[in-house]
Amino acid sequence: MKPIILTGDRPTGALHLGHYVGSLKNRVAFQNDYKQFLIIADTQALTDNFDKAEMVRDNVIQVALDYLAVGLDPQLNTFFIQSQVHELYELTSYFMNLVTVARLQRNPTIKEEIKQKGFDESLPVGFFCYPISQAADILAFHADAVPVGEDQSPMIEQTNEIARRFNHIYGGNTLKEVKSIIGKIGRLPGIDGKTKMSKSLGNAIFLGDSSDDIKKKVNLMFTDPNHLKVSDPGQVEGNVVFMFLDFFDPNVEEVNQLKEHYRRGGLGDGVLKKRLIEILDALIAPMRTRRQQYQSDLGYVRKILEDGTRDARAVAAKKVEDVRAAMKLVY
Ligand code: TRP
Repeated sequence: MKPIILTGDRPTGALHLGHYVGSLKNRVAFQNDYKQFLIIADTQALTDNFDKAEMVRDNVIQVALDYLAVGLDPQLNTFFIQSQVHELYELTSYFMNLVTVARLQRNPTIKEEIKQKGFDESLPVGFFCYPISQAADILAFHADAVPVGEDQSPMIEQTNEIARRFNHIYGGNTLKEVKSIIGKIGRLPGIDGKTKMSKSLGNAIFLGDSSDDIKKKVNLMFTDPNHLKVSDPGQVEGNVVFMFLDFFDPNVEEVNQLKEHYRRGGLGDGVLKKRLIEILDALIAPMRTRRQQYQSDLGYVRKILEDGTRDARAVAAKKVEDVRAAMKLVY
């Protein structure tokens, strides 16, 4: 039996290179050695997009297309839609009793998000509680591991606290504590050099972007504002094109030589951008092709989601049975 991974995404938009670097690439690498459940977390997306339900709905299929585009095999992985696995709501209800408001308020991830979104007094209870629902996602599948970015590790701690408390109060080893696999790869900046690539910041390169989109976006990237003439010495630090080459150019040796040349002067931005455009296009081209293939057969994609959701439900239902038994909710 392969160890189990539970991970996924909120369907608030098509996925981009930031997702690829931060998680999708790892998932592709893990798919032979782990049984991966990939949750398309529409219920969670609604916690801060409740007035955009249609947008969330439409993006479920976009996320599934992106999973297929990067090469996640639906035979090896279970893709499922969170809202359709009703067992998760039940687990969330029971777990809500095990977490205090004070504890949630201390969760650094949620604390930061509440601040960022400027919720103040209008903080929806649903949003505040999403870490509990996320714990239910993980614990429902008896997951061994969750690959997360560093900023998500408080979510894993919260999940394990719930598991321990549940097991302590209701007995047994009903729930399994999970390990986080923290990605070694850093966070990809946006094409504007901002710390995070994000659809809402308008600085993303999407996995379905055309060659032309890629070209335009790379050409928009900031380099060194003081590097006016090719012969001028240029700065590598903070130069977005070099940041991207560090992430995507497999030839580290050559990139180092380019950096030296750029610092000395005599190397134009155009040469660097052309190189980056070629590298990104070579990475994205096969994804784009696969995405288009599946896009023209959406019935098949829906079937993958339907089958995956049914399988996920069967697994979660077994866990709910164990949970009810432990809680003596058997009548
Ligand atoms: N929080 C994740 C995101 O923002 C989505 C998600 C929902 C998730 N449930 C999860 C991730 C459980 C890992 C484990 O994209």
